Amino acid sequence: MTPPIPLARPDIGPAERAAVQTVLESGRLSLGPALEAFESALATTSGVAGAVGVNSGTSGLQLALEAAGIRPGDEVITTSLSFVATANAIRRVGAQPVFADIDPVTLNLDPRSAAERVGPRTRGILLVHLFGRLADMASFRELADSAGLILIEDACEALGSERDGLRAGAGGRAGVFGFYANKLITTGEGGAIVSDDMALLERCRRLRNHGRTGGGEPFVDPAPGFNFRLSELHAALGVAQMTRLEELIAARARLAAGYSERLSGAAGLDLPAPAEPGERIAWFTYVVRVPPGPGLRDRVAARLTADGIGNGHYFPAIHQLPPYAKDPASRRGPLPVTAAAADRCLALPFFPGLSEASMDRVCERLRAAISAG
Ligand SMILES: Cc1ncc(COP(=O)(O)O)c(C=O)c1O
Repeated sequence: MTPPIPLARPDIGPAERAAVQTVLESGRLSLGPALEAFESALATTSGVAGAVGVNSGTSGLQLALEAAGIRPGDEVITTSLSFVATANAIRRVGAQPVFADIDPVTLNLDPRSAAERVGPRTRGILLVHLFGRLADMASFRELADSAGLILIEDACEALGSERDGLRAGAGGRAGVFGFYANKLITTGEGGAIVSDDMALLERCRRLRNHGRTGGGEPFVDPAPGFNFRLSELHAALGVAQMTRLEELIAARARLAAGYSERLSGAAGLDLPAPAEPGERIAWFTYVVRVPPGPGLRDRVAARLTADGIGNGHYFPAIHQLPPYAKDPASRRGPLPVTAAAADRCLALPFFPGLSEASMDRVCERLRAAISAG
């Protein structure tokens, strides 16, 4: 029988194993040199002044929003085509997500739709760089500046992506990365906030650690803090992965090109647009849009699963999920492009080490699954 092909798999090598072993033997398991080294590598790669490591992308979003000044009752404009954590983080700081529609080609938040959603209580924009492709930063910076809004990037899927010299995470007040096992680099679980604003970073550092600046220091933050710390074991894994960032980005770029070549011309199938001049996509995953048709994506997904081919529904529209479906305040207008895209999106197996033969099989089975209707 042909072996199954997973949707995602982390690429962990000897350097990662050695780095974790070193921490285990050091006796220092939290708030130590590995965390500092990881933060410094993230800041350098993103082209910003500093970084604060945390235990997930979701906690990073929560801290970034709070430290940037988003308060209960504020509205934050965001996309509904993202992982649900994007909107949940806004809710968890007591603010109200307001969904704007997306661009039909890039699937990222559409700046014109976002501008239409700005109201008297709007205080921020939480951009998402979906599947590794940067949103239109220039337009969003202009919108944020002209409307006096706080711009934050959910860059959980876009470490290393770049457009015209600007790296993911460096375009707004703060950017947030996630390091779950399917991400470009992984720490198992983990996240980070990056920013040029040292006061904002200092606030995040305190809030991640119960309101303290360091392990044994006094509690100084006026707000109740959390334990969102990233352990030394996770951070050491991250440092080792960061030394391989360019290799991992290149491997994923080859996979994306391989899929696009194999699938070009497939009737009704929309493939991710290639990078534009000046743009580098650090591909998080490869998501196609199957031809439109009621239930077709789910039937195609079930056929691939039956064939042992991992696949994912990236992403259901957040505004149709339980915490938001009955929340009229999150909808200031219709979201037709989002709804249509969400019904058709299907993520294909995508990880360094995916063989050419496996890609052949995925594409052959995908075409067959679509033809079966
Ligand atoms: C766009 C986006 N935002 C937020 C998150 C949340 O990250 P985490 O799972 O590390 O909490 C993820 C990833 O899972 C994501 O893809």
